Amino acid sequence: MAAASVVPLSPLPLLNHAAQSTSNLISNLTTNLKTQLQPKDTTFDPKKHIAFTPPTNILSMSDLKLKDSPLSSFAVSEPFRLFSPSAVQRMREEIFQPQVQKYQVSSNLAAAQLRGYAKTEAPFTYQAWTSPEVLAAISQIANLDLVVAMDYEIGHINLSSPVSAKQDGQVVADIQAEKEKEEEEEATKPIVDWHTDSYPFVVVTMLSDCTSMLGGETVLRKGDGTTLKIRGPEMGYSVLLQGRYIVHKALRAYGGSTERITAVTSFRPRNHSLPDETVLTTVRPVSGLNLLYAQYTAYRFEILQKRLQDQVRAVSQAGEFDVGAVKRFLSESVGFLGMMDRQIVEMGLVTVGLVDGRGEGVGGRGSL
Ligand SMILES: [Fe+2]
Repeated sequence: MAAASVVPLSPLPLLNHAAQSTSNLISNLTTNLKTQLQPKDTTFDPKKHIAFTPPTNILSMSDLKLKDSPLSSFAVSEPFRLFSPSAVQRMREEIFQPQVQKYQVSSNLAAAQLRGYAKTEAPFTYQAWTSPEVLAAISQIANLDLVVAMDYEIGHINLSSPVSAKQDGQVVADIQAEKEKEEEEEATKPIVDWHTDSYPFVVVTMLSDCTSMLGGETVLRKGDGTTLKIRGPEMGYSVLLQGRYIVHKALRAYGGSTERITAVTSFRPRNHSLPDETVLTTVRPVSGLNLLYAQYTAYRFEILQKRLQDQVRAVSQAGEFDVGAVKRFLSESVGFLGMMDRQIVEMGLVTVGLVDGRGEGVGGRGSL
């Protein structure tokens, strides 16, 4: 579908003072950067822009007392270096282009985000996340061949303004006390509340200098009900998470710089025979639905097309017709299409900005 068909979402009324500060962030920084922008080098050069260092520590689903997903036993990586400083700078420049402001959205889960801008407005960012070298790096960590979930999800941006330590010293003191008492859940306000992601895997990349910030971690809910706090990535570093299968939330950051910008890019398996339990629950209310629905439908139909081709080969080559195998495939395909039917909600029934973070359950017959 042509990019011109995007219907940009209007920024929503925001919920509180902190959110309002975030709302002003893009326009303020855009104004500041207007005079700083150099002639753009929009070409992504893997040799120059990738600085990949694999994480030395990875947690499995069993480490979190969760059962393996249908895709992987991988759960989450520690922060790993992915992009060079010059790549981060290019991505930041693309975010703060004046024409990107119209892609800002807001929801009950997150005060300020940019969505769907990369394909048309951010050629460097688009090339980066679709480059074979970056895909290979992410796939190496997941131990599974991954591709970007769809173009619309490239470089989703979460924006926030950390609470100032000077403005709210008590908050910082509270955070430090929490670390000692491990009571962070009750006393911290998340920037993105408890949820599972819509897509199987997600890479969160830090695009801000957050060395002097407190907080900003991701908290994972383990299978036994306890939680595990994961250190956030530093500038240019990333974290890979199997976010569709792990309930998690992002904590607000305190102190430090005036901005905290993370790029969130979602991935799915390249192999069409693996289950695809993607839902649109958390993204539908904050997306241009013409593009989101078109891209979702296109890749799902491509998966189905390849599975049908496999079936054509199987029934053509088999000497004996395997009734059970064909019936299993038919049942799975009915579920696959039913899943799509539930995701493509009539546009008039979608409440813009109201995200149900609980998502749709995984593991059901209809989700394959
Ligand atoms: Fe998430």
